[in-house]
Amino acid sequence: MTKLTIYWPPEKTDAGVREAAAAIASGGVVAFPTETVYGLGGDARNAEAVERIFAAKGRPSDNPLIVHLAGAEDAAKLASAISSLERRLMERFWPGPLTLVLPVRPGAVSARVTAGLDTVAVRVPDHELARRLIAESGCPIAAPSANRSGRPSPTRADHVLEDLDGRIDGVLDGGPTGIGLESTVVRVLDGAIHVLRPGGITAEQLREAAGGDAEVIAASAGEAAAAEAQPADAIAAAPAAGKLAGADAALAGAAANAVSASVEPADAAMAADADAGARAIPAAEEAPRSPGMKYTHYAPQGEMAVVTGADPARVREAVQQAADRERAGGRRVAVLACAEHAPGYRADAVLGLGSRAEPEQAAQALYAALRECDERGIGFILAEGYPEDGIGAALMNRMRKAAGGRVISV
Ligand code: TXA
Ligand code: MG
Repeated sequence: MTKLTIYWPPEKTDAGVREAAAAIASGGVVAFPTETVYGLGGDARNAEAVERIFAAKGRPSDNPLIVHLAGAEDAAKLASAISSLERRLMERFWPGPLTLVLPVRPGAVSARVTAGLDTVAVRVPDHELARRLIAESGCPIAAPSANRSGRPSPTRADHVLEDLDGRIDGVLDGGPTGIGLESTVVRVLDGAIHVLRPGGITAEQLREAAGGDAEVIAASAGEAAAAEAQPADAIAAAPAAGKLAGADAALAGAAANAVSASVEPADAAMAADADAGARAIPAAEEAPRSPGMKYTHYAPQGEMAVVTGADPARVREAVQQAADRERAGGRRVAVLACAEHAPGYRADAVLGLGSRAEPEQAAQALYAALRECDERGIGFILAEGYPEDGIGAALMNRMRKAAGGRVISV
């Protein structure tokens, strides 16, 4: 049994943090809350501890980990160089949900953390428990999200236990996480800020911080497609080239299978490919800069489609039609909807994601809702899409991943 350390009441906190920090300092692995999602932490300098993280998660070893620091001053211990633009981003967004990929100082962390790359991803989390844990352990803490690979990231301590009970040394319970989606991962290259993974810090915030001194380049369509692909062995097994291009026939099938509305061209290949069971990166394409982007993050036990459109009333209508059709076909259907629409839906489960005017609420609720769908034996999930500005970019990125790229625009 994994030990659950309760954060509340506060008088238990000190002992909990001390215990967790001691476990990490001696090579253990402990899950802890951050402002984004729960992470599974271990000493980033200890190869065995890092190995335990990979093993507990069932994570492919070529996907590097983010190293969590107590303060920006620690970044210089891990990075061999930090540019003035990178410093500005640290000052502006740390502590907070921004991860910077920096050139690694040789030997500063286990090579298992960086998966042998010459860069290291670092961030300072904005959560009291996380920062106290890092400070007290005296270690840079390598921590991926504390889920089994292929499951939604945990936003509550009980999600961590659902996935990792018995595989890790403990969980610090800090209640539900505030943001609910992972950090934004960026790399500064040639004076431009490349967003490798959209997350808690928005492109708009990055642009404002850059103040015209640097361009902010959002994750490209190519990388978005790569994000849907599967681990290296699946890629090798799939007929790589041509698979994405020759998707027309399968696409027709995917669309008919979902609903009769159109599937967005950019997502079409992914949707079709998902149906084919393996999503490939064309062999000739350059490796994605953020290795994790090539892995499927989460696929519900059933199927999922995201319905997008400028007119919320039409989206609502299309979701209901699709729900009716899927239910008539004998599937248990869940609808993920904004609070304004949720009461009006007929489905086997309707999960509210908060007010449409506040996509932050949907970001916070999404992963728990996806877990609930699996628990309730849902065969088809229909999710209302959100506008892609602000946190909406990260929200839609995660929804599309969960849906295997199946997006229906109306
Ligand atoms: O909010 C978060 O970032 C959470 C909390 C726990 O901090 N952590 C998290 O870690 O989401 P993980 O391991 O699930 O995702 C880390 C992402 C992956 O996409 C990985 O490939 C990328 O960061 N990454 C890590 N090191 C990298 C590097 N050196 N270069 C490029 N990408 C890197
Ligand atoms: Mg993760």
